[in-house]
Amino acid sequence: MLDSKLELDNKDHMCDVLELNKVLERDITQLSGGELQRFAIAMSCVQRADVYMFDEPSSYLDVKQRLRAAEVIRSLLTRDRYVVAVEHDLSVLDYLSDFICCLYGKPSMYGVVTMPYSVREGINIFLDGFIPTENLRFRQESLSFKMVETAEELIVDKTRHYSYPSMTRTLGAFKLTVEGGSFTDSEIIVMVGENGTGKTTFVRLLAGDLPNDEDVKQNLQVSLKPQTISTKFPGTVRMLLTDQIKAAFMHPQFQTDVLKPMNLENLMDQDVKTLSGGELQRVAIVLALGKPNVSVYLLDEPSSFLDSEQRIIASKVIKRFILHAKKTAFVIEHDFIMATYLADRVIVFEGQPAISATATPPQTRLSGMNRFLASLEITFRRDPTNFRPRVNKKASVKDRQQKAAGNYFFFED
Ligand SMILES: Nc1ncnc2c1ncn2[C@@H]1O[C@H](COP(=O)(O)OP(=O)(O)OP(=O)(O)O)[C@@H](O)[C@H]1O
Ligand SMILES: [Mg+2]
Repeated sequence: MLDSKLELDNKDHMCDVLELNKVLERDITQLSGGELQRFAIAMSCVQRADVYMFDEPSSYLDVKQRLRAAEVIRSLLTRDRYVVAVEHDLSVLDYLSDFICCLYGKPSMYGVVTMPYSVREGINIFLDGFIPTENLRFRQESLSFKMVETAEELIVDKTRHYSYPSMTRTLGAFKLTVEGGSFTDSEIIVMVGENGTGKTTFVRLLAGDLPNDEDVKQNLQVSLKPQTISTKFPGTVRMLLTDQIKAAFMHPQFQTDVLKPMNLENLMDQDVKTLSGGELQRVAIVLALGKPNVSVYLLDEPSSFLDSEQRIIASKVIKRFILHAKKTAFVIEHDFIMATYLADRVIVFEGQPAISATATPPQTRLSGMNRFLASLEITFRRDPTNFRPRVNKKASVKDRQQKAAGNYFFFED
């Protein structure tokens, strides 16, 4: 009899683990991006089915919620049920899946799905751009997370030193406390923390965007790529770039370092208003990096709407640009692989989302990521082949060993 029911008896459980109880009475149109995503995941998970499908379940979620969503999705598995998911965040993919199919081809022309590989093999094939079993190369260059720029970084002598004071900011019912810190040129500081812990608020403070900022008197020129990108620009991408960042747009170095790898060439004559989310994100990153006379770049979630390959390319572009131009960037990032790759140092946002939170001073990548992951009770290690950070499965041997040793972020550089 039970089998004829359309739903599983797990509604309360799903509401608990996906943190939906607080929003149960709310109209669906009022939900935030992350809330709506968790609601949509729950809607699938309460149904009785043989096959479950999830298209980009991690979008809009913070790291903790991404991994929680992956656990919830895995919990659906029984001997006669399976799950198919599409995902751009490689560390989530690692945690979520047992097998991986890669898709390759030419965007808007054709696509090919490979046979299923083990997780490690699948991700490595994707990164290599080469399928050994078919002897087929689908991308010229392979993508690696090795810190190739590190050697260069060592000989950079950091000549400029900046600092910001301790400060607090209250927004409605939310209070953010920032512990003062300092930074230098040729440095990327990554901000990590749950949704609603004040990351965007802090970046806006640094940008001097908030009214009545008596305590932030920075004379720094900043360039901000906001989290939500909206545009009313009436014209093509080329017109927008010429209008806003003409000097950079014409500069050969900027063209090779930024414009070309960000692959804007095919978009140049397209109307800005008709761009897709990912295309708009790429244009917004280029605009932010191209702004003249800037010492500090503030990039709020540059990976949103980008696919895994574009995320890696964008990370490399940002890293190279900041090092070569001897500038500083503050980057807010939920994609853990991208965050680790970008970070020279890390600011951790801790506290109660939407109520009160504290931003730590910038600390080393190792200690910052370790602190952040310890609060989430998640451990990472590095893949020996391509240096990609991988999440350890919960309660696996490595997970238990690393937790016992306090090495949440295992990073042998
Ligand atoms: N103008 C405002 N009035 C009242 N509350 C606000 C205002 N702006 C932001 N908040 C609240 O302050 C908190 C922090 O917001 P903020 O956008 O800085 O978070 P965040 O860490 O960037 O989150 P996310 O990861 O979701 O982008 C949230 O709970 C938000 O609802
Ligand atoms: Mg934000």
